[in-house]
Amino acid sequence: LNNGLALTPPMGWMSWQRFRCLTDCNLYPDECISDKLFRNMADLMSSEGYLEAGYEYLIIDDCWLEKERDENGRLQPDHKRFPYGIKNLSDYIHSKGLKFGIYEDYGTHTCAGYPGILGHLEVDANTFAEWGVDYIKIDGCYADFDDYEKGYTEFGQYLNKTNRPIVYSCSWPAYLESNKIYANYAYLSEICNLWRNWGDIQDSYSSMSRITNWFSSNQDRLIPYAGPGHWNDPDMLLIGNYGLSIEQSRSQMAIWAILAAPLLMSVDFRTIAYEEKQILLNKEVIAINQDPLGMQGYLAKKKFDIEMWVRPITPVKSRAYSYAVAYRSMRDDGYPYAINVTLNELSLNHSKGYTVKNIFDNSWRENILQVDQSFIVRVKPSGVVLFKFTPN
Ligand code: GLA
Repeated sequence: LNNGLALTPPMGWMSWQRFRCLTDCNLYPDECISDKLFRNMADLMSSEGYLEAGYEYLIIDDCWLEKERDENGRLQPDHKRFPYGIKNLSDYIHSKGLKFGIYEDYGTHTCAGYPGILGHLEVDANTFAEWGVDYIKIDGCYADFDDYEKGYTEFGQYLNKTNRPIVYSCSWPAYLESNKIYANYAYLSEICNLWRNWGDIQDSYSSMSRITNWFSSNQDRLIPYAGPGHWNDPDMLLIGNYGLSIEQSRSQMAIWAILAAPLLMSVDFRTIAYEEKQILLNKEVIAINQDPLGMQGYLAKKKFDIEMWVRPITPVKSRAYSYAVAYRSMRDDGYPYAINVTLNELSLNHSKGYTVKNIFDNSWRENILQVDQSFIVRVKPSGVVLFKFTPN
């Protein structure tokens, strides 16, 4: 969507993966979807270095609403859990230097059963603008598949009319593609800034891998439509929660960087471990993700169950791209597997070779590689080795 926003993949934090639809604040006083939770997260997002690293959007996912609209037909937040209203919370989030995002659904109901926007598109777009919303995720539950294109287009027009810059995230492809119907990405890239392509991520490495498998199997269809202003979205980062080991966390961060994916954390900043935090804050992997060319990478090759993911990035020198390359192990046989590789087998062909930087491991010694020179990469089980290659 050509609205001047999301020129690189959006970065932020979203409540769903970690906090889901916990609405019982008696049982879960510190975790329930509430004003208090979002203020807590906003405080830490800005004081703990996340904002500085580029994570700017704090996004409320489902379960913030009252079950009914107010007497004027407007959306209203749950009064117990959001006693000061959304505008007040949004002001607070903005006062921390963050941007504010929220969730709704195109259909009659949100996926968790709260009121959707169908039949109220204009008034809801205006409400969001009045609340200072900077990013909106519009889900696709309880809607007719045939209405998506027209409906999301219409809502986008109402957003546009508010004159407030709002990143527009559209979930409808996830519903089509999960039912094996191809979405029209050419059209999506014109009316949305990003879109969820496929099923929800769950807190496990197998879920993450199902998503990366789907992305690689469909990459030829998806890649042409990713670029500044419009992105494929493989869903939230799991890093810092329960399901991924440290190696797997590096793997998700590396593959999401290669995929030019939105980096939407969904973690409790109060309990995240130091090492996990360092993965999320790694400047070099973030720079790969945020590369200004905005080209989405791809699975180039798989050998002995080591996947080789490649993304062209800057700097471009005498028409040769730099590349981020992730060697990702799908193996589980204990020791760090050694694979013998060359650069030209990944079509990195620059005649003067490349200067190498290992992103997660400073002890790597190789500085310069010629394209036909074989070298050994050792990849830990379900881990990743991520390189940046700059043409000489
Ligand atoms: C769907 C979406 C999730 C989340 C939930 C909320 O499943 O794909 O990301 O927003 O709805 O109910």
